Amino acid sequence: MSLPKACIFDLDGVIVDTVPAHYTAWKAMADEVGVPFDEKENENLKGVSRFDSMKHILSLGNIEKSDEEIQAYTERKNSIYVDIISSMTPSDILPGVIDFIDTLEANDIAIAIGSASKNTPQILKCVGLDKVFKVIVDGNQITKSKPNPEVFLKGAERLGFQPKECVVLEDAISGVKAAKDGGMKCIGVGSPEVLSQADIVVDDLTNVDIDFLKALYSNEELHQA
Ligand code: BG6
Ligand code: MG
Repeated sequence: MSLPKACIFDLDGVIVDTVPAHYTAWKAMADEVGVPFDEKENENLKGVSRFDSMKHILSLGNIEKSDEEIQAYTERKNSIYVDIISSMTPSDILPGVIDFIDTLEANDIAIAIGSASKNTPQILKCVGLDKVFKVIVDGNQITKSKPNPEVFLKGAERLGFQPKECVVLEDAISGVKAAKDGGMKCIGVGSPEVLSQADIVVDDLTNVDIDFLKALYSNEELHQA
């Protein structure tokens, strides 16, 4: 096999630049409970569900809250977040994404979304990509948060391919682990130090093309794009 049958894209931080909006909203919650929180700590929340993210913030301050209280925090966090992202437009699509999607379509490689976000449908609509993906698996359809591979395994199954026939594109430590534990190749988007479990790490999708995918599948040594 020299090319994958499908690419499964994470959404936040791979297709759209929602990471700062998530950070702003979580920071507001962390401030409210009096827990120090910065962008480095935010790395641990990427790919993680709303509920588990709030639990993580509370655990940083050894704070105990009931599930109902945690749920109330996540609802407030989400309303801050949704306020920010509701003004997103196609200009918020990250560099290289549209060209890469066009390349995949031209080469008959299926594309899917595998995201923990329950806001996926709204975000895809805002940026004009709601009719583009063959399969969308999001936070509304999964029971286990990344690093559990459920979201990507569901995506592969609904596409009709084996995990090993799929490449995942991910910006989160938890998402890279989910892809690898699910038996998929993984292109990390971000820092090689942070995403050390990925098969290869790129800054963005600008230089990811068909030759890049071929090299990934023929196990040639890859250098950072
Ligand atoms: C992931 C983000 O894609 O979705 C996380 O990386 C976020 O930061 C998670 O917590 C859940 O998103 P939402 O939109 O359902 O709160
Ligand atoms: Mg992400």
